[in-house]
Amino acid sequence: MFNNHDVKDIFSGKIANSWEEKSKYISKVIGEDNKIIFFIKKYIKPNMDILEIGCGTGKLLQQIDNLSTNLNLTGIELSNDMLNNAKKKIFNNNISFINSAIEDFLPNKQYDLIIMKQVLHHLSSKEKIFKKLSGFLKTNGKLIIMTPNDKYQMNIIKFKSINDSLGRISDSMIYNYISNLPLIVLSIQHVNSIAKFCSLYEYFMFLYSIGSLQKIYDYKYNYIFVLKFIYMFKNI
Ligand SMILES: C[S@@+](CC[C@H](N)C(=O)[O-])C[C@H]1O[C@@H](n2cnc3c(N)ncnc32)[C@H](O)[C@@H]1O
Repeated sequence: MFNNHDVKDIFSGKIANSWEEKSKYISKVIGEDNKIIFFIKKYIKPNMDILEIGCGTGKLLQQIDNLSTNLNLTGIELSNDMLNNAKKKIFNNNISFINSAIEDFLPNKQYDLIIMKQVLHHLSSKEKIFKKLSGFLKTNGKLIIMTPNDKYQMNIIKFKSINDSLGRISDSMIYNYISNLPLIVLSIQHVNSIAKFCSLYEYFMFLYSIGSLQKIYDYKYNYIFVLKFIYMFKNI
């Protein structure tokens, strides 16, 4: 079982500094992940308290910042290197950044909206997180999650509902996580995305840059080792 220390390692250093450039490893993507902003948009109203968990380099928070006024935005992030990149961005609304694991975070208020984009699959105790987050929401508060589902890369790596190597989460797993909590599923959207890679090297670099390659090996290897492995495919 992996721990937060391993996850933090893979989102530090080189990965943190090249996070927003990762798309250069994808020659053509249809249905890219940033479309989540169009979904989030309908829920944003002035004066809302919004928390993004695993906010990374703050790209999504900045898009939300442009949607309304008088928002109170909070970004929590495990990796200090990712957060340092977020702090360089300029925001119009009130923003606070917290360098912490979500597991250790105890807010002094509740939120209208909590967002987790591509983070849930990195958390080792998902049931506990759902329980915790249900207590962070105001009445009628919403939790918006984007995560790789059981169809993600299914032709390449077989999906396993228990200990899936990529951490993918099926709809039924979501229903199970919240079955005893005061949460209801309002909607689940399945988004297709097609990535076309010109070589195995590009594909591995993509998997590496989103942390998936490290996850497949349960974060056992550090990024320098993983990069050395990928470089072997560079000229193939
Ligand atoms: C795949 S990245 C996604 C980053 C950002 N949400 C995005 O879509 O660009 C996962 C992020 O979650 C952070 N993270 C992982 N586990 C976390 C935890 N337990 N608490 C807070 N952040 C965490 C990582 O450091 C990393 O920045």
